Amino acid sequence: MTPYGAPQAPLSVALNVNENTHPVPQHVADDILDAIALALREVNRYPDREFTALREGFADYLGHGLERDQIWAGNGSNEVLQHILQAFGGPGRTAFGFAPTYSMYPLLTRGTGAEWIAGTRGHDFVVTADDAARQVADARPDVVFLCAPNNPTGTPMGLDVIEAVYDATDGIVIVDEAYQEFAPRDERSAVTLLPDRERLVVSRTMSKAFAFAGARVGYLAADPAFIDALRLVRLPYHLSALTQAAATAALRHAPVMLSMVDEIVAQRERISATVAALGYQPYESWANFVLFGGVDDPAATWRALYDRGILIRDIGIPGHLRVTAGTEEETTAFLDALASVGSAS
Ligand SMILES: Cc1ncc(COP(=O)(O)O)c(C=O)c1O
Repeated sequence: MTPYGAPQAPLSVALNVNENTHPVPQHVADDILDAIALALREVNRYPDREFTALREGFADYLGHGLERDQIWAGNGSNEVLQHILQAFGGPGRTAFGFAPTYSMYPLLTRGTGAEWIAGTRGHDFVVTADDAARQVADARPDVVFLCAPNNPTGTPMGLDVIEAVYDATDGIVIVDEAYQEFAPRDERSAVTLLPDRERLVVSRTMSKAFAFAGARVGYLAADPAFIDALRLVRLPYHLSALTQAAATAALRHAPVMLSMVDEIVAQRERISATVAALGYQPYESWANFVLFGGVDDPAATWRALYDRGILIRDIGIPGHLRVTAGTEEETTAFLDALASVGSAS
């Protein structure tokens, strides 16, 4: 097996892991620092094991009448997903996702001794409700991952697909909304499907839209009984007092933290239009990145961009590369470098 290993190269324009490349605004950083300083005074004690204030913050942020006992959090949504698999995966169990999808799902699944089952996507990586329900009914998995919007393709997923998959299985259905804040504003989140669906989970992260990847904070919303199951597998005090303080303070500034989303979406649209003009085929994206096809030799193009100081991602789909929408300057640097590398196939 191969560990997760996106390159961490010291290049000035790093657009390979879908981070928010805008820094946290200074006045928010100051407020977070004050909160951490306060937490430090009691760092001789274990933190609040139930991270109560933070869960309240996430319930408020998600809205839709959610309460604190429907919220869970961890050190990044990767840990939150691992908790779900520790509780509901394991030897003799299976987890399912529509490939290509987020590369950590198979690793996290196998890490608990469960088996990974890869389903398929249709034209342009889209999954339809009928096809999704049929594949899930055939595979009979214990856990289903629906990445919406999907990484690495950016593909949106209709709520009808989520409803159809839920009805086609009696297993756990995880909707990973890591990139939801970059979707069109009027689109409904899967959070609206939670009432009366006790096997449905919606996971989110502060790593993307919130520009908080380095703090490692992910969370989910689900039925309170589901949250209780996760308590069985988490390590005691898994969220440090400093993480709780920082994330709770950052959430108080949610509108400011999210103010760069529109700008990032504008850069995403600029990337799509420009790579298309260069002869590549971008896919529709509701995330903060763009997957584009028509790349003759992805490894060679990736290397040529690297040599020009631009780091993007070769995710192993033949003929394709993925790039994160960064600041306007970073986007310009990427687009200029791509144009200078030569034309598409
Ligand atoms: C779809 C998806 N889910 C989850 C994650 C993990 O995010 P984190 O662990 O930083 O919260 C990522 C990170 O790229 C992702 O793309």
